Order: sequence, then structure tokens, then C-alpha cells
Amino acid sequence: INSLSTTQKDRFDKIVSLIKKSHKVVFVAAGTSYHASLLGVYFLHKAGREAQTLIASEFRDYANIDEDTLVIAVTQSGETMDLIDALKYARSKGAKIASVVNVPYSTVQRMSNISIEILAGQEICVAATKSFINQVILLLAIAKDCGYDVDLDKLSEDIKSVFRSEGKIKEIAHSLANSKDIYIIGRGLSYPVAREIALKLKEISYVHAEGMMGGELKHGTLALIEEGTPVISLINGNTDIISNTMEVKARGGRIIAITNQENKNIEDMADDVVTIAAENDASFSLLATVAGQLLTYYIAKEKNLPIDKPRNLAKSVTVK
Ligand code: AGP
Repeated sequence: INSLSTTQKDRFDKIVSLIKKSHKVVFVAAGTSYHASLLGVYFLHKAGREAQTLIASEFRDYANIDEDTLVIAVTQSGETMDLIDALKYARSKGAKIASVVNVPYSTVQRMSNISIEILAGQEICVAATKSFINQVILLLAIAKDCGYDVDLDKLSEDIKSVFRSEGKIKEIAHSLANSKDIYIIGRGLSYPVAREIALKLKEISYVHAEGMMGGELKHGTLALIEEGTPVISLINGNTDIISNTMEVKARGGRIIAITNQENKNIEDMADDVVTIAAENDASFSLLATVAGQLLTYYIAKEKNLPIDKPRNLAKSVTVK
């Protein structure tokens, strides 16, 4: 955070001014970085700034790009081939390119008109964890400069508080270790978090998981909910997620609530509750993610899996 008002201030101010004056803002990313960019879109939207995000491998087929477009690449490695390909396309259409990277002097950074670093330090394990947190914090800092109300300094303290629930998370991980399918539902800002937790469950714990919008359950996925199907519900102040969770409960699903709400009907409805001390949307998105990261870590540990180097995956996907 401090670098944004010191060593990176000029670049940070330039990205913010480009966002403010561009006719269109399109994020582009892959995997976990895409989930961070979804949160970036959410926070900019709340600040009254329209933006969209596209998955890098589909960018050419879904993006309407021109010289008035600002394309913002979000990437830990800066070497993701899908992303490099998308940026070549964006450049061919005359778009300006900004990037949010963790690895300095990476290919994506060198392709950018302006680039800013998340300063997460070297991330060795294949799964993106600390880089996701820093990506979201940087995107929050950009949204804050566009008018989104957030106390960035308090976030790191908030994140530490998740470890107060580590024992409970470990217990839940033990009970989920043999699950074949896990669903994670969220709404609004917790939809990207649902997607990110699902990705971690797949890539670290080798459990099939689907992160989805709670509102989409009744449009099909509810058919898959049986007695005991584990559903992690990310319950912030949004009341509709409660009724989505009740839909699952009514079909016999096993509810694991990750929530910042202290209320009796969540306690009654959920089989397990992980309480996080998140006072606002920004804090909820980060703390719920960390709770999910801990859960996947303990499931993988329980299954004796190679957490840092999961099978079939590479840290940087430099092929298409
Ligand atoms: C995330 O845990 C995965 N390692 C993967 O989805 C990763 O986020 C994706 O390959 C994008 O990588 P990048 O951020 O380096 O571009």
C-alpha cells in the first residue's frame, strides 16, 4: 500500500487517470487473477465506474476493443501465454494497456503502456494465494481513488483475525476430506470469492468444486443437491444468499457458512459456521478468501497431497 504513495505513486496516479478518462475499461486475466479482476470490477462499479472483465483465452471472441479502450491485465507471473496473446490483440486494436503484476520485468509488464506491481514477494507454490490478496488490495486502492470508501490500512489487521477460526476450519476440513463434490455459493462481491475457493479446492485438494452465484442455483444446479451434499455459503449482509442457502438446506444439503453475521437463523440453518470479523465488503472478500484458502490447505494436508506442487499444473502457464 505504502508504495502507491511513494515509489509507485506516478504510475498509480497514471492508471487511475487512465481509468477515469477512458471510454471503456476492460480487465483481462486467467485463473485466480481473473477472480481478483472480478472483484476489481465490483469495487469500481460501487465507485460509479463501469468496467468489465474477460478471461484471457476468450478475450478475442468476446471483447469489443478500440483506441478508446483501456485494457488492464492482472497477472502474478506476467508470463501467461493466454494473456500475452490477448494483449497482442488489444494492441492491434489500438487499445492502451495497463497491467497489475507481481513479477517485475515480466513479458506482460514490458508490453504495457503503464504497469504497477503488487509487491507480494516471490510466490513459489503453484497455487496463487498471497498474490491474490495483494492483487485485490491494489484493485481496492484504485477503486478508492475513484471514490470507493475503504480503510486500506485496517485490512492487514483484519486478515490476521481469520486465524482465530483456524481450529474450526481444521475440523471442517477433516469432515470434508472425502467429499467428491463441493459447491460454494456467493452473491455480489462474494461471487468471485466463491469462484476462487472452488479453484483452490480443485487445484490443491483435488476435490471437484463449483463456485457460483447463489441466484443461479434454482436455474439448474439445485438438481445436484442431495442429502449431505456440502455447500459452502458466503453470507455477508446480503439477505438473498440466506434464501439461496435455505433452498439447499431444504434439499438436505450440508451447509457450511462463512459469515460475518452474528445471527441465530444462520446458526440454526448451518451445520457448521466459520465466523469472520469483516466489517465491510472489502474486508469480507479478503477474509472469506483466506478462510477458504485455509480450508483447502487442511483438506489437502489431511489427504497428504503435495500442496505446493499439485499434479498436472505449472506456476506459470506459458502455453496456450
Ligand atoms: C491459481 O492458483 C493458479 N495457479 C492459476 O489459475 C493462475 O492464477 C493462472 O494461471 C494465472 O496466472 P497469472 O496470474 O500468473 O497470469
